[in-house]
Amino acid sequence: MQIVRRSEELALALSELRRGGTVALVPTMGALHAGHLALVDEAKRGADKVVATIFVNPKQFGEHEDFGRYPRQEVEDARLLQEHGCDLLWVPGVADIYPEGFSTHVSVSGVSQRWEGEARPGHFDGVATVVARLLLSVRPDIAVFGEKDFQQLVVIRRMVLDLSFGVNIVGVATVREPDGLALSSRNAYLSAAERGQAVALPKALNDAKRAIRAGQPVSSALEEAKQKLLACGFSRVDYLALVDADTLEPLDAPAGEMRLIAAAVIGSTRLIDNLPF
Ligand code: PAJ
Repeated sequence: MQIVRRSEELALALSELRRGGTVALVPTMGALHAGHLALVDEAKRGADKVVATIFVNPKQFGEHEDFGRYPRQEVEDARLLQEHGCDLLWVPGVADIYPEGFSTHVSVSGVSQRWEGEARPGHFDGVATVVARLLLSVRPDIAVFGEKDFQQLVVIRRMVLDLSFGVNIVGVATVREPDGLALSSRNAYLSAAERGQAVALPKALNDAKRAIRAGQPVSSALEEAKQKLLACGFSRVDYLALVDADTLEPLDAPAGEMRLIAAAVIGSTRLIDNLPF
């Protein structure tokens, strides 16, 4: 696996790589775990060559968020990517992605606005801008993203469609710990006690799903799930909602393709999760 940093090195490596066939892109912020590696495995199934990126994107972190303390472990990440058959790793610096004078941002309205968009103003502009930048630099045939960040996946699909990026966006199901907690680089922030309590999040989503399937009204099933989270040690529930899987608009009764989505805070860590419905 070749590792490149500067944009010029990337261009050179890509022209070589493209001779080997189709290219898949797996964008990440590093601190890789089995969830990220499932994306690499899917990328390998979908294309001849796999390019991964590690870039902790300052534009998608709010002023009081964890940009400074976000886990960084490039050597270990590179080893894992190599083991999973990644061909090229791009680790740009901030100046490679946002050179002096960079003034453009991509903003996807509608699907960005609720949920994470409301809790983290500007977050999806940062995500859309960096993903556009990465897609245009690598120009892959496919790009692979996790359903773990379901709203992010919907925002990226919208952007790629609206701006005719000509890339096939592939979504991969959430990889979980044996007890059900979704793998996340931010799980590293949890104390042992919080880690034990955090499993209440997927459990609350599963309970709500089961209750709604059994005919309980959506609003009371969601309210019960929120109360369970608060009783299990979460200090705040930003949202816990049944939404349309394409528009992310809230539903008060089951209809069509749906998703149960949630964000809640435990200690100083904010966790998100979602389930297909
Ligand atoms: P990051 O949080 O590093 O995640 C990179 C990719 O891994 C995303 O597509 C995310 O949805 C996926 N992922 C994370 N945990 C997962 C899990 N448990 N199962 C399956 N997939 C999982 O998401 C980002 O970085 C950034 O916003 C990025 C898209 C790289 C833009 O900066």
